[in-house]
Amino acid sequence: MTTAIITAQDVHLYYGKKEALKGITMQIKRGEITAMIGPSGCGKSTFLRSLNRMNDLISNVKITGEIDLEGQNIYGSEMDTVQLRKRVGMVFQQPNPFPFSIYENVVYGLRIAGINQRERLDEAVETSLRQAAIWDDVKDKLDQSALALSGGQQQRICIARVLAVQPEVILLDEPTSALDPISATKIENMLLELRQHYTIVIVTHSMHQASRISDQTAFFYQGELIEMDQTKQIFLNPREQKTEDYISGRFG
Ligand SMILES: Nc1ncnc2c1ncn2[C@@H]1O[C@H](COP(=O)(O)OP(=O)(O)O)[C@@H](O)[C@H]1O
Ligand SMILES: [Mg+2]
Repeated sequence: MTTAIITAQDVHLYYGKKEALKGITMQIKRGEITAMIGPSGCGKSTFLRSLNRMNDLISNVKITGEIDLEGQNIYGSEMDTVQLRKRVGMVFQQPNPFPFSIYENVVYGLRIAGINQRERLDEAVETSLRQAAIWDDVKDKLDQSALALSGGQQQRICIARVLAVQPEVILLDEPTSALDPISATKIENMLLELRQHYTIVIVTHSMHQASRISDQTAFFYQGELIEMDQTKQIFLNPREQKTEDYISGRFG
């Protein structure tokens, strides 16, 4: 039985007066890939960011309800957000490597955590780059700038940077939509491999991507979670008319 690693209970989120999430309740299962789909502006990114408190960085945001990680309320007063964002890492749509070497990009989080022993860093670099399926591309130029890489390679460096701190959950917000199809496929294949060790939550506007890589799919519409189920079920036999309309391309 797969158990929930994250549980959201009646989550409402407001940007000022605008209610962007209208009572989201869902469970994210450990060791699975959960995809979030829905038309632009329906709250996918907002919900994703609420899972590691990235919305805290936006002014005028109010959130109610509860989100638990391993049974602990992440909005509780004893939750350390730096620690939380290590446990729940995030990858964005636009690859955002730092203007440092490939090596220093990957070890960034470890250095912040005070880890500086060369051996440990070297090992983390190789392991993370291998997991991100980019070791062979970059192993001979680790001291070169990450900014010199292609977009797809940069995105894999960003994924390696998240993996280096050994998170439990990886959040990805449309990680391939700025990339060419070949780079996108490489990242999809990598995520399928990573699934063995991590829980993955991915926002995607590609229904093909959701159906190819995810175990569970959540369909959002206008700030509500309309339906969440096993991916096959959502795409072959959705319960809700709105889901059916969306996946058959009638809107969005
Ligand atoms: N920083 C923000 N400030 C104010 N409104 C926002 C902000 N981010 C998103 N929104 C609004 O919240 C709603 C949900 O947006 P978002 O979560 O980005 O949707 P999606 O990722 O599904 O496209 C939209 O109406 C959007 O305009
Ligand atoms: Mg978005």
